[in-house]
Amino acid sequence: MSIYIGIIGLGTVGSGTVKILFENQKLIQKRLGCPLLVKKIAVRDPNLPRLVEVPETLLTTDVESIFRDPEIKIVVELIGGLEPARTFILKAIEAGKHVVTANKAVLAEFGKEIFRAAREKGVDIAFEAAVGGGVPIIKTLKESLVGNRIKALTGIVNGTCNYILTRMTEEGLSFAEALKEAQEAGFAEADPSLDIDGLDAAHKLALLTTLAYGTEITLEDIYVEGIREIEPLDLSFARELGFVTKLLAICKDTEEGLEARVHPALIPEAHVLASVRMAYNAFYIKGDAVGDVLLYGLGAGQMPTGSAVVSDIVDLARNVLSGASLRVPPLSFQLSDLQRLPLKPMEEVVSRYYFRFAAVDRPGVLSKIAGILGENEISIAAVIQKGREIGGSVPIVMLTHEAREKAVRRALSAIDELRIVTAPTKILRIEEG
Ligand code: NDP
Ligand code: HSE
Repeated sequence: MSIYIGIIGLGTVGSGTVKILFENQKLIQKRLGCPLLVKKIAVRDPNLPRLVEVPETLLTTDVESIFRDPEIKIVVELIGGLEPARTFILKAIEAGKHVVTANKAVLAEFGKEIFRAAREKGVDIAFEAAVGGGVPIIKTLKESLVGNRIKALTGIVNGTCNYILTRMTEEGLSFAEALKEAQEAGFAEADPSLDIDGLDAAHKLALLTTLAYGTEITLEDIYVEGIREIEPLDLSFARELGFVTKLLAICKDTEEGLEARVHPALIPEAHVLASVRMAYNAFYIKGDAVGDVLLYGLGAGQMPTGSAVVSDIVDLARNVLSGASLRVPPLSFQLSDLQRLPLKPMEEVVSRYYFRFAAVDRPGVLSKIAGILGENEISIAAVIQKGREIGGSVPIVMLTHEAREKAVRRALSAIDELRIVTAPTKILRIEEG
């Protein structure tokens, strides 16, 4: 017996997947127990040059032929985007195929419909590559940590942003130069604003929060801030103060409720996530039984992401061989046990803060700013002021002790109204966990 698969999409991830399936065919066969064969690969333009050599006979522009083929048991969706990806996945399910996808966007938007359809049809759906590229975070949450209450999960989940922040911090590259490099390396989304505005990270966090807490969550529930506004000056002040700047995706179970947020943050240089550089991703999980767990690896790119897709394909092929579909619920919880837990509003989140004020350099300025912070019960932990800019405006950097976001917003809107303040205050949260 052989297991046949059909693949839709032969771009970065599709070519990595096919490369692994071809090059490691014998090894995979020894692990699976039977040959795992690619029967069809659907693309838009069969004449385009590819990152992997494939026999012409495998390529088709007729996606429907994959759904119609009774020999194909597993369909792998690797085209990305919402449509026609959603329709292809639903059609594959309807045709009784098990589905593998790397598409976090389609799952974050249409997950409910897709998972329900798969459950009703009795087919499996797997998406390890959708979060963390080659890092096995989905399986870790669904299987390895199944006995734990997840207290917190902090992730560096977007390789493009981590790459940009690393290159800007370490080499002084401009934002545009660093983004161009990330695009050339193939890990930026087709529309890179999804990466830099934090939406890709939010898509991933939506999936992780559901897997960790069994809550139905939509993108609108997640507070999202990207890295577009970050300036080299803040990266260098952060460094001087002993912090590195990362785009973090955080879900946390606090006494006041569940938090889910994506934003840039300063983390101390000694933090376990501080040494996660370039396009690497990492997940720092706190479980009530296991304690701290750290997963680290390449979160994007042809071969690491292909590795995760192949792991899902083999998983589902094993289910096909043993006739044991639906063994592990795709979202870690039984669909009937998913509920909509209330999320803590961002205004109620408590954190330490980094502020950079732009103010005129004149006696009494600092005390005015400090006064407003004090009125809002925001306690200052450190202050630095350096140099004198042209026009007499200077950066004043402050670190605070823990404060509530709503108090911070109130204080900053009053401070930014002051005549001595010459530009909107820059704000970054500090995560120490
Ligand atoms: P690419 O843009 O590199 O590849 C997309 C492929 O899909 C192309 O081969 C394209 O065909 C094909 N395609 C697009 N539309 C259709 C269609 N309607 N019918 C048939 N084929 C179609 O995307 P990636 O490989 O980068 O991404 C794929 C998925 O993986 C996305 O969901 C992405 O979010 C996810 N992902 C990507 C990672 C990465 O590092 N790139 C990492 C983790 C996840 P053609 O070549 O003929 O135009
Ligand atoms: N654009 C994504 C990133 C790809 O940079 O992390 C992996 O999902």
